[in-house]
Amino acid sequence: MVSGRGSNLQALIDAIADGRLDATIAVVISNIEDAGGLERARAAGIEALYISHRGWPSRDDYDRALARELRARDVGLVCLAGYMRVVGMPLLAAFPNAIVNIHPALLPSFPGLHAQQQALDHGVKVSGVTVHLVTAELDSGPIIVQRSVPVVDDDTEETLAARILVEEHRAFPDAVTAMLDGRWKIDGRRLVRTGPGV
Ligand code: GRF
Repeated sequence: MVSGRGSNLQALIDAIADGRLDATIAVVISNIEDAGGLERARAAGIEALYISHRGWPSRDDYDRALARELRARDVGLVCLAGYMRVVGMPLLAAFPNAIVNIHPALLPSFPGLHAQQQALDHGVKVSGVTVHLVTAELDSGPIIVQRSVPVVDDDTEETLAARILVEEHRAFPDAVTAMLDGRWKIDGRRLVRTGPGV
């Protein structure tokens, strides 16, 4: 699911094409009609579905509609690749421990919007990317993969975001691979491997 330019979606498409990721993208859904991610999906021959988040009686109705579309396509893992909506209970309940999100900071530091600017403002010397399971609380589910990058003195939000993005594009396919191999379990708030992997 995407709301924007879809470069992390592209990283998954490329990893599948290269044989680094053994998966099929059943559908790409966006709440934004002109999201670049939908265009990338079409270019790769993947079904691209626009479902506006507006006009539903409630947030839950919108989430139920998403769950219906995903289930109808037999989706096993939902990947939030720059999907800018909070995931509500109907969708969480339909895909327990099967929704992953990518966040451009080392959680639990700097959740929410503008994570790179938050990191700069705080003055951290290291930031990075987190891929995690989605739970009811924003940006705080069990962590699947984290990768760090240095923060340098003359960084701007743009330069730091670009450095993190390079790691995002590696971490996301790795995390999806790790989830799909099934060799993991949830222990408290930890996701622990039960076999070799990332
Ligand atoms: C990425 O920085 C991701 O971590 C965040 O939203 C951004 C999406 O970028 N959740 P893209 O649409 O994948 O290029």
